Formats: sequence, structure tokens, C-alpha cells
Amino acid sequence: MPTKNGLVQCYLLAAVLAGSCGMMLGIGMGIAQNFLLTPVHVHLNLLGWVTFAIYGLTYHALPEAAKLGLARVQFLLAVPGLVAFCGGLTALRLDYPVGFPLTVLGSFMTLGGMLCFGGVLLRSFARPRAASPQALPAGSVA
Ligand code: HEM
Repeated sequence: MPTKNGLVQCYLLAAVLAGSCGMMLGIGMGIAQNFLLTPVHVHLNLLGWVTFAIYGLTYHALPEAAKLGLARVQFLLAVPGLVAFCGGLTALRLDYPVGFPLTVLGSFMTLGGMLCFGGVLLRSFARPRAASPQALPAGSVA
């Protein structure tokens, strides 16, 4: 079923993009038999593909949560955070000095994204849910 929830689409597209990059890196590592960038591969797949898909599917299940401003903040921490983190890890493994600060920045953004997600869930669970007309028994008056 198509969704009009932009945040769901953005998260799922980011998940597919990160997962595709992670898989291509994995194939490249296997062909080259060079496993220097294994940590980048792992984080693209687990933080990118798996975690972003969980975020996106959660917002699909809780559309009210996706409307919260904190959910937008979460996206702006999580997705650029992964880019900074994986870019930083790559630079670190290749001995570029920028790698360390970039990895630290990306890791705190990633953690911030997770904490915001927790905040979004808590706020969403605390809100009273509007009764859905479909949930009413047939023949009952709303
Ligand atoms: C086309 C798909 C994939 C390919 C070709 C691939 C390839 C690889 C390769 C070559 C390694 C390094 C193995 C070594 O160090 O000996 C690796 C490690 C790893 N991959 Fe993948 N991978 C793929 C997908 C995934 C996905 C989808 C995930 C997670 C969701 C994942 C998680 C991991 C983990 C956790 C490790 C580290 C294992 C360890 O060091 O013990 N991979 N992968």
C-alpha cells in the first residue's frame, strides 16, 4: 500500500541505499581479499540497512509519531550521522587524520538519533489515540 508518510519513504530509501553500498563493499572486499574496511561494511549494513529499515517501518506503524518535530530531528541526526560515521571509519582505516574527529562526530549523531527515537516513542505512547472508524463494530454508532 503506498504511503503518504514522507519520513517512512526517506528512511526506507536511505536503508536501501546504505544496504546497497554495504553489500557492494562486501563484494569488493571478497573479490580483493582485503578486509581492511570490514567495520565500514558492517556499519553500513547494520546501522544503515537494518536500523534505518526498523526506523522506517516503525514510523509506518505509528504515523502519528512520524508527525512529531522530534522525528524530523531524529532523521537529520541518524542519516547524516551514518554518513559521517562511515566516512570517518573509512578515513581512520586508511590513516587519514580527519578520520578520528569525523568518526566521533558521526557516533554522537548516531546515538542522538537513537535517543530521539526513544523520545518519539515515549511521546507517541503517552498520547491518547483517536478512535479509528474501522475499529468500531459493524452497526455501532460512533
Ligand atoms: C552482498 C552482500 C554481502 C557481502 C558480499 C558481504 C561480505 C562480507 C565480507 C567479505 C566480510 C569480511 C569477512 C572476513 O573478515 O573474513 C563480511 C563481514 C561481515 N558482514 Fe557482510 N556481506 C554482505 C552483507 C551483509 C549484511 C546484509 C550484513 C548485516 C546486516 C553483514 C554483516 C557482516 C558482519 C557483522 C561482518 C563481520 C563478521 C566478523 O568480522 O566476524 N553483511 N561481509
